[in-house]
Amino acid sequence: MNKSELIKIANSRLLTVTSRPDIVMCKGQGMYLYDTEDNCYLDFIGGWAVNCLGHSPRVIADVLAEQSRTLINASPSFYNLPMLEYAALLTEQCCLDRVFFASTGAEANEGAIKLARKYGQVFKNGAFEIITTQYSFHGRTLATMAATGKQQWEPMFEPKAGGFRKAVFNDLDSVKQMISDKTCAIMIEPVQGEGGVNVAATEFVRGLRQLCDQENILLILDEIQTGLGRTGKLFCYEHYGVEPDIMTLGKGIGGGYPLAALLAKERLNIFETGEQGGTYTGQPLAMAVGLAVLKEILGQGLVEHSRKMGELLMAMLTELSSHYEIENIRGMGLLVAFDLTKTKGQDFVTKCLQDRLLINSPKERSIRLMPPLVVNEIELEELVVVLKKNLAGSSRLG
Ligand SMILES: Cc1ncc(COP(=O)(O)O)c(C=O)c1O
Repeated sequence: MNKSELIKIANSRLLTVTSRPDIVMCKGQGMYLYDTEDNCYLDFIGGWAVNCLGHSPRVIADVLAEQSRTLINASPSFYNLPMLEYAALLTEQCCLDRVFFASTGAEANEGAIKLARKYGQVFKNGAFEIITTQYSFHGRTLATMAATGKQQWEPMFEPKAGGFRKAVFNDLDSVKQMISDKTCAIMIEPVQGEGGVNVAATEFVRGLRQLCDQENILLILDEIQTGLGRTGKLFCYEHYGVEPDIMTLGKGIGGGYPLAALLAKERLNIFETGEQGGTYTGQPLAMAVGLAVLKEILGQGLVEHSRKMGELLMAMLTELSSHYEIENIRGMGLLVAFDLTKTKGQDFVTKCLQDRLLINSPKERSIRLMPPLVVNEIELEELVVVLKKNLAGSSRLG
């Protein structure tokens, strides 16, 4: 099929959910994606902060081939070998003791919401409210949309799940004011990704931990975007010196294979049989991939690499900001953003796409970079060349 036939199918057969350019991707290797016309794109979206090992990494290809010859699916009613090995390694690497595996971030967050409500039922007189924050993003199911702090989502698909209150991010007093005897948990992203890469202040996260301890409520960290090396630590909570009661992971943990996880402290092992589950929980193929990705990240020192490359990227952008109209360079590790003072984000994304660079604009004037963790200095320099070219019209010198 030629490209116009493919785009005709896209326009007539896919349920429209977002606007996409007339490009059909067909191959990926390392930091690069290739379309059906063999154009090569430098990818700083990384599958939306997902492809931590780059595109089509050997380790995932091999484990998928091997595991699919051995066991693709047993059933959720049986243990399987990669499930147990992965559960042991993942919990060993973080401060949580128990794990439930899911396929998407939203599903892991739904589980976290259910677990917090279960905690409220068992230990807090039926408390059910969860305090989240403005500009947060927790997913697209009805409950996770209700948890999300996007104002424009509020009127959509009513009635959504109730029981969420939105505090101001990085404002401890605003959270305190929302606490009542109905509150069972506080849920935040340590770095709000979709909200434009807003980094939580250390005092805020530590203050939340203290507040949760005082009020006997749970701290839930949504690390779906920040987890597994993205921020220069294996888990973002390590930057803050506090431990969550519940953590959710997704995106990078599968390296591109659909995989997510809900993790909790031992005392929260309180679901009754049948209250939580799913056909694909702990599916062997996903478990084998998750295990291989985690081993690769640990074995190849990719957390440290992400920290170093993140620092270099920040330095390059800071240098750029002294010549061009960009500001507010922010982020952690390889989750980085900056604001354009003269151009709309989406227009800038379109210009860069013409130069075969993939970047994302989460907010009107912001540009977000979330490349695979394997990105190297040369690819960072390649990025800067294209950014410079497209910022040329907004040079500070004229
Ligand atoms: C912080 C955060 N939570 C949850 C989600 C939802 O994950 P998924 O799209 O896999 O359901 C996302 C996705 O962007 C996210 O960034």
